Amino acid sequence: MPIRHATLHQLRIFDALARHRSVSRAAKELHLSPPAISIQCRQLATAVGQPLYEKVGRQLHLTAAGEIVSRTCRDVLARLEQTSQELAALQGLEGGSLRLAILTTAKYFGPRLLGLFSREHPNIEVALFVGNRAQLLERLADNQDDLYLLGRPPEQLRVEVEPFAENRLVLVAAADHPLAGKRRIPPERLNGLPFILREAGSGTRLATERFFDEHGIKPRTRMELGSNEAIKHTVASGLGVAVLSETTLQRQDRTSGELVQLDVRGFPLHRHWCLVHPEGKQLSPAAAAFRQYLFAMAEKSDLVAGQFGE
Ligand code: PGA
Repeated sequence: MPIRHATLHQLRIFDALARHRSVSRAAKELHLSPPAISIQCRQLATAVGQPLYEKVGRQLHLTAAGEIVSRTCRDVLARLEQTSQELAALQGLEGGSLRLAILTTAKYFGPRLLGLFSREHPNIEVALFVGNRAQLLERLADNQDDLYLLGRPPEQLRVEVEPFAENRLVLVAAADHPLAGKRRIPPERLNGLPFILREAGSGTRLATERFFDEHGIKPRTRMELGSNEAIKHTVASGLGVAVLSETTLQRQDRTSGELVQLDVRGFPLHRHWCLVHPEGKQLSPAAAAFRQYLFAMAEKSDLVAGQFGE
């Protein structure tokens, strides 16, 4: 049975398996059972006439044939997606869809912005993914979304990057911290200080470690947490200090008096919020409209402070 007898369903399933390198994660994404995934992949392998993957211990590896078929799956599915966008464009903007991926740190303004955009375009179908930097870069490499909101452009990937707002990273501590209120603290004072860090793969974590390296600082990692909110609470409890995007400090954090910013030389770290998409990717009408909306809003309001043209 040659590969032209493979079904679109099988290609979709194998694409998910190849991306996740896991039957159970592919099953979860596609809302199918793991055996259904295995059966369809086996049938696809029969059509190809060669095994597509193998399991070494618990690890799933694609064979050389699997890599080739996986690339084909990605191309076919991307082409189909583009076709549906072109067809939607024929019917005008309102028939389209928008897939947006944002950083956890951008959840303080991204979803709200998307909500306002959706109110203006109720017929655009919207999908939002929220994850850390490493997860977003993986999706970007796989061309899974139309647009990405990132804190720093990826170095390895060929992408188009448009900064739209400032992103300052600040050092926060509990109000009764011994360094609170001190002026122009030298970075060396951070040596040995207990730190609450974001998880590996986080952009905030990356920027923090870069600062430590540049200044030869060896902090004490007190805890690693995958959530900015959890970090704020832990810092307020006095367990350690943390570097956070100013975006995560909402009005109640500024007024509660529980957290203070430490005036350490070199802070805030200056970065930008960027809108990113793969180089050369033709934006769908819905994605182009969202891009325009984002820039218009960023121009007239302080998006990252949560003020939307108010
Ligand atoms: P993060 O990204 O949510 O992965 O920490 C923030 C950033 O890159 O600025």
